[in-house]
Amino acid sequence: MELIRRIHLMREIAREARGRGKKIGLVPTMGALHDGHLYLVRRARELCDLVVVSVFVNPTQFGANEDFDRYPSDLTRDADLCVQEGVDYLFSPSAEEMYPPGFRTYVEVEGLSQVFEGASRPGHFRGVATVVLKLFNIVRPHFSFFGQKDGQQVIVVRRMIRDLNLEVELVVCPTQRDADGLALSSRNAYLSPEERAAATCLYRALERARELVEEQGDGPCDARKIEAAMREVIESEPLARLDYLAITDAETLERLDVVDRQALVALAVWIGETRLIDNVILSPKKTRQPGAEGEQP
Ligand code: PAJ
Repeated sequence: MELIRRIHLMREIAREARGRGKKIGLVPTMGALHDGHLYLVRRARELCDLVVVSVFVNPTQFGANEDFDRYPSDLTRDADLCVQEGVDYLFSPSAEEMYPPGFRTYVEVEGLSQVFEGASRPGHFRGVATVVLKLFNIVRPHFSFFGQKDGQQVIVVRRMIRDLNLEVELVVCPTQRDADGLALSSRNAYLSPEERAAATCLYRALERARELVEEQGDGPCDARKIEAAMREVIESEPLARLDYLAITDAETLERLDVVDRQALVALAVWIGETRLIDNVILSPKKTRQPGAEGEQP
């Protein structure tokens, strides 16, 4: 495996590989790799000839009062993990390389970027869309791998790919969880043991939503009822404070009153000083599609 720091070198490698007919897979990350990231890497290894993992803690997707300065980072460990997974290139540019003085161009996916996660974190998806488009242009992947863990991010990136006619296929991989259901996240490292125990309330709330939709069978399920039940789970956890709860159309992010189609059920919760997000995709029985919560190549 080779560590690449410079954009022009990464571009050259990608151009040469494309010229030889190699299928390139890109796994964009901010590092502090865990098994959630590595699942994406393994899928990339299965589907592609050349696997590029990017590690870049992207300053433009963090708000002024967020955790950019203390975001966990250990490139040596990340590189070791990438070697173990058979990654071909680890692309880790500096912030100056990605955003040189005079940088002025940003990508805005209107509407989808301003709600839920975007409302709590203004400018977040503008930064995500911008850096992902830059990474696509530098690495020119045939396939790019994203986790369902960041459900709204998937919707925003998918919209950008369609709207800007990008030639890359999105592969969405299922959320990887610890044994007690907590979604793996680099931010879990911030949690104290008590907070770590409390953090399972996100998964418990999502499971509650799943049960309610299942109980409803073929019939549409009242979204307000699901919200109330989820709220109850979060409120019964003293260390937790709900940021938002969303039950929306899984494609358009339009808020649903009844779950009568594929729905994204998403939430953000503060556990002490740490903000965690999680989601599931739920469908009423009659619209359930194979792979609704699994992989969508
Ligand atoms: P990061 O949070 O490092 O996540 C990188 C990728 O790993 C994302 O696609 C994310 O959804 C996926 N991922 C994280 N935890 C996961 C889990 N438990 N199961 C499955 N997949 C998981 O998301 C970002 O970085 C950034 O916004 C980025 C896209 C790199 C742009 O800067």
